[in-house]
Amino acid sequence: MSDSSSIPRHIAIIMDGNGRWAKERGLPRRAGHRAGAESVRECVEACKELGVEYLTLYAFSSENWNRPAAEVTALMALLERFLEEKADELMKQDVKLQAIGHLDRLPDRTRAKLNAAIERTAQNGSLTLVLALSYGSREELVEAARSLATDAAAGKIDPADIDGDLFASRLYTAGIPDPDLLIRTSGELRVSNFLLWQISYAEIVIFKKFWPDFHQADLFEAAKEYARRHRRFGAL
Ligand code: IPE
Ligand code: IPE
Ligand code: MG
Repeated sequence: MSDSSSIPRHIAIIMDGNGRWAKERGLPRRAGHRAGAESVRECVEACKELGVEYLTLYAFSSENWNRPAAEVTALMALLERFLEEKADELMKQDVKLQAIGHLDRLPDRTRAKLNAAIERTAQNGSLTLVLALSYGSREELVEAARSLATDAAAGKIDPADIDGDLFASRLYTAGIPDPDLLIRTSGELRVSNFLLWQISYAEIVIFKKFWPDFHQADLFEAAKEYARRHRRFGAL
């Protein structure tokens, strides 16, 4: 890549298609989720290689709680295993883990393992891996509005002072720059309640392949496509 501005500082990924990947192979859906964990590992490595600073992965949406209990349980178990098994690797790779979402809804054991991994990797710095868990953008926006309204009602802030920066500081993503590049796998052309505020000017790249088939080379291809785009932010 020719200059540093052509490298996305923040990549966000809607990791979709695990279930269909498994179905194609006559396997249970959880086998697709398990295979998808390997793609996560590859993406972390590819981002490190490129010099990307933030990688946000949509791992579980607030709407995913509506799936059958057995699938939700399998996903939480897989997340716990990922957190346990990958913590050493994240330390070695100097990757800092963070999470966004309604984390209080996670089972206690899952949340404890998540917090342990976040604490353990807190001093790392080369790449920040943000897991979106029990994440829903509308919920996030509503919570931000509620928190500002509460402060205004208590006289702590003047409603006239509410601007984009103050609003963004009340989102789960406070302190994290907006994604430059949004990737979705499985060919679906929708954002499924992901980072609605934050992706306002993200470049979008869609892959037809299912998430477990997404490898390092695909992330490099998306980064190349990003470098070819001309971002205008509404100006000329
Ligand atoms: C993405 O794969 C993973 C999660 C949403 C947790 P899906 O489980 O949505 O798989 P498809 O889209 O049904 O194939
Ligand atoms: C989006 O995928 C959520 C995650 C990838 C975690 P979904 O499969 O849940 O979204 P829809 O149902 O296709 O919109
Ligand atoms: Mg899906």
